[in-house]
Amino acid sequence: MSMNYAFGFSLFLLILVGLNVYFFYTMNTVGKVNPILNVRGFKSDLLPNIFKDIYNHLNYLPSSYRHKISKFSLIQKNLLQSFNISNVNNVKYTLHNYINWPREESLFPYRNGISGQMLSAMRSSTIVLVDNAPKGTQLKLLLLLEGKHKLYFKPKRYKLDTIINGNIYAGFDRHNSEVFAYYLAMIMNFTWIAPSVIRKLHLQRDVLPVATVGLKKAMVKNENGSMCIYGKCFYCKINETVCPDNNGEIEGAAILYLDKPFRVNKSPWRRSYTTKKMEWERDDDFCKKVLATHSRKRVLNLVEVSIFDFLIQNGDRHHYEVYKDRIVLFDNGKGLGNPAVDELDILAPLYQCCMLPLTTWQHLELLSGGSLTETIKLLASLQGEKLATEDHFKAVERRLLKFYATIQYCIGKHGSAKVFVNTD
Ligand SMILES: *[C@@H]1O[C@H](CO)[C@@H](O)[C@H](O)[C@H]1NC(C)=O
Ligand SMILES: *[C@@H]1O[C@H](CO)[C@@H](O)[C@H](O)[C@H]1NC(C)=O
Ligand SMILES: *[C@@H]1O[C@H](CO)[C@@H](O)[C@H](O)[C@H]1NC(C)=O
Repeated sequence: MSMNYAFGFSLFLLILVGLNVYFFYTMNTVGKVNPILNVRGFKSDLLPNIFKDIYNHLNYLPSSYRHKISKFSLIQKNLLQSFNISNVNNVKYTLHNYINWPREESLFPYRNGISGQMLSAMRSSTIVLVDNAPKGTQLKLLLLLEGKHKLYFKPKRYKLDTIINGNIYAGFDRHNSEVFAYYLAMIMNFTWIAPSVIRKLHLQRDVLPVATVGLKKAMVKNENGSMCIYGKCFYCKINETVCPDNNGEIEGAAILYLDKPFRVNKSPWRRSYTTKKMEWERDDDFCKKVLATHSRKRVLNLVEVSIFDFLIQNGDRHHYEVYKDRIVLFDNGKGLGNPAVDELDILAPLYQCCMLPLTTWQHLELLSGGSLTETIKLLASLQGEKLATEDHFKAVERRLLKFYATIQYCIGKHGSAKVFVNTD
């Protein structure tokens, strides 16, 4: 009798588990979005409730978020014009004219082909001095160009298809992520960012003749007799060098250096970099505390930055720099690490505050259906760049849907009148 009872009970449990799995499965397939379950460590019980809610909204996301919006084509056309490089005769003149630009609207000018001209100038201007970049945690060079303009140079450390495993801030900076991030930001109309372009340095021709003593000291010969750079920085190690390729060149991201007085701030949503949980990870009402100590404008700006970081999966923005009271999108090299991973908590500023400037939303809403990554590819191709594998482009599109789902979650919770903030 008791055996029977035990058997019956086990059967009951088995059916219960089966039903659960079935319901969970159907719940997640109704909306015909499947890639979402493809998330590292996805286990429904372990996800915070907010994540469950957001994933639910993702499953029922209106189909309009999967289609291209025709209004975007004009924006795309204007961007392509800005980045067109048909008019690059005056490269020196170009940088000289615009380096002191910062205006209310953008950190650098970008209309009428100027972006393309600046990138071309950054890619081809003669280098008169190469040094270790001051400060910083990763190997980075400082290039002085003819005409006194400066570029940061972050060397390539990985092939485009290398997958970075481990935590979200693992590994070296990705040079392609810096350049990808620049185009992404410009498409999102986040214009508070420095231009960035892929540049190749010929070690013997471009670097060694103009290298400072300090830089030469930060170089070693490898087993093939080639000079390699290990640099001077917090994490630089003599066994972690960057060496020229078969053509004698080192590829990297050239980023326009800004000689400006930036204010550096700690991000309220920074990670702990240990197993300790930060306050924002423990308290779903954390945004209230941030609003009590930061201006509304700054919090809205942090929310915008979190969307940008989420799309490329840059989880390393522990500090941020401010110029003219706006966050400058510096240091975007920790993106594009693993296309299979979407750490939703990078969006914490958005799902905890549930607010976004209305104008920002009206713009980001237009990027759906593949327009975003299509435009990144088009802009990059103007400089002959290939910045990411298809897996990464797909991942960015998938994350864009998750951003839309998060907005739906916020609207469901607070109503759109509260979520979209009129900032004009
Ligand atoms: C980009 O933002 C600026 C304000 O910062 C705005 O004037 C402009 O209309 C926006 N552009 C697009 C295409 O949305
Ligand atoms: C040395 O050259 C060989 C052949 O070109 C290459 O396979 C190897 O990776 C090189 N070693 C280093 C340390 O660059
Ligand atoms: C370089 O050496 C350090 C120890 O000084 C070690 O932790 C690291 O893994 C080494 N890196 C490589 C690429 O071998």
